[in-house]
Order: sequence, then structure tokens, then C-alpha cells
Amino acid sequence: MAHDHLHDHQDRSRHHHDHTDVDWGEMAPMLESQAELFTPLYERALAWLGHKQTEPGLIVDAGSGPGVVSCLLADAFPGARVVAVDSAESLLERARTRAARLGVADRFDILAGELPGVLDALDYPPDLLWAGRSLHHLGDQRAAIAAFAARLAPGGTLALMEGGLPARFLPRDLGIGRPGLQARLDVLEEEWFARMRADLPGTVAETEDWPGLMAAAGLRHTGTRSFQLDLPAPTTDRARAYVTAVLSRLRDGFGDRLDATDRATLDRLLDPEDPASVHRRRDLFVLATHTVYTAERTVHPAERTG
Ligand SMILES: C[S@@+](CC[C@H](N)C(=O)[O-])C[C@H]1O[C@@H](n2cnc3c(N)ncnc32)[C@H](O)[C@@H]1O
Repeated sequence: MAHDHLHDHQDRSRHHHDHTDVDWGEMAPMLESQAELFTPLYERALAWLGHKQTEPGLIVDAGSGPGVVSCLLADAFPGARVVAVDSAESLLERARTRAARLGVADRFDILAGELPGVLDALDYPPDLLWAGRSLHHLGDQRAAIAAFAARLAPGGTLALMEGGLPARFLPRDLGIGRPGLQARLDVLEEEWFARMRADLPGTVAETEDWPGLMAAAGLRHTGTRSFQLDLPAPTTDRARAYVTAVLSRLRDGFGDRLDATDRATLDRLLDPEDPASVHRRRDLFVLATHTVYTAERTVHPAERTG
């Protein structure tokens, strides 16, 4: 699927299937704990970015949420100032608190407002604009990419994390119910995602050809790479808590769209007393893949210094 499946398990399933608006403030603990679990994946993605470009002076984390990745950006690029940008002020407050706790507050700012227009408030153009799983929440993705591109410093990089593969937590045959439960949940999520996009303000249907859209915005595509989070069974308590939260939200959001067998299976998976539940089974794992697309704003001869 073309969007960020695993993380959006949370975004989407939090709400009843007929509601596609997301209460981001309410999502804060979940966004934080999932980004923390996914830290090894982010670190590899940011190391890859670091090898591709010169040390950035200003980094914008567009749609930063609670700032876990913003702080990882600050770590990965110790010479850079990082601005976390989001429309949810409560999430930005968490980002600010986190930056202080991690000792990077002196080169960390927050900026509240609607993307992409809020970027006009930046003091100077970013050398790296990271948009992790946020672009697909904007109605007109082509216009947003063009606006991101227009705000980049000459030679700056736009990095989009979008799409990847559906995450897996359980064997195809769980030993209970009908094999293939996660694949059937994926279908419900796809339908939710389509409704979510259709309901966004100013929504525009768009082929999700990110390199093509970046090229259309005048950028030079510099790379696409997918990064994997592989936490094999037997997994950690943290991963177990994450999977439990994801499946609970799916049960809340889509339970009434599942057939009786799958609903009963999901209930058993979530029942802490049941030996087959995700709380107790030994075969639980987290396998997730996210894709990063990068493109550069080429330096116009008139912009070259020296
Ligand atoms: C799925 S979360 C991703 C958070 C973070 N980048 C991460 O990877 O953990 C999407 C974020 O985009 C933000 N967002 C959604 N629509 C937005 C908009 N129109 N303007 C600014 N931020 C927006 C949400 O508040 C949320 O924090």
C-alpha cells in the first residue's frame, strides 16, 4: 500500500469507522511510544540522509507530532537547528519538553500552524525538510510538495517518509480463527484511508508517485530507500504493548466490519486471560517497512556564492 500503514493503524483506528478526522492531541502518547519503538528504523533512515548531503544548518520537521523524530534529527545532525512544525500545539509542547529533557533545547524551536503555509513564518529556508507520515494528511499533496520545494534553501533536501509495506505482528495462521486476519484488517484500513483522504479540506486525488511529484516541483530526485524494523519473536514488552494498542484500536474502529469469526479472534487476541492473546503468546513480532524519498533543490547559477 502506498501510505504509512503501520503507524496509521493508530491514526485511523482510534476513531469509529465513519469518522475520519483525527484528534492528534489525543494521539500523543501513542505517537510518542510508536516513534520510540521505531527509533532504530529512524536512526538508519537519518544516517542514510546524512551520507547524502552536507551538514544542514536548518532542519524542518514538517508534521513533527510530539517530536520524537525531531529530536533524533537533532542527534543525527549535531550542527543543525531543528524546527518542529505541526498544527497540534499540544504535540509541539511535548516536542519542546522532550528537546529540553534530551539536552537539545538550545537549538530546537517549535512552530504551530497549518502546513504548508505556516512555513512562511520561518526566519530562513531549511537545508533539510523532513515530512514523516504527514504529507498524506494534507488535502493537496502536489501543492504541498511544491510549497515544500519552494521553501527549501538552494541545494536543500526534501525527505518524505511515506508508504512502505503493511506491518505484520502475527503468523498467518494464528492457531485460532481463520488464517490471514491481518490481511483482512489491511483491507479495512485501506478503505478507511480512502475516506480519510476524501474528507480532507481541499482534497485532490493524486497518483502517489512521490519522485514524480518532487520532479514536477522542480526538484531532482536523489534517492528512494526502505527501512525495516524487525523485532522478532520472542519480542520485548514494549513491542507487545505497541501491538496490543494497535489491535485494540483496530477492534474499536473496525470491529463491526469484521465477520463474527474475525471479531471473536481479535477479542481473544486482546483478552489478557487468554493464552492465545498478544499479552501471552510467544510468537508475537513486529516487522515493518517505511520508505523515504529524497529530492534536492538544485542550485541556480545565480544563487551560487563565491
Ligand atoms: C501520523 S502523525 C506523524 C508524526 C511524526 N512525524 C512521526 O512520524 O511520528 C501526522 C502529524 O501531522 C500533523 N498534521 C496533520 N495535518 C496537518 C496540517 N494540515 N498542518 C500541520 N500539521 C498537520 C498531525 O498533527 C500529526 O502530528
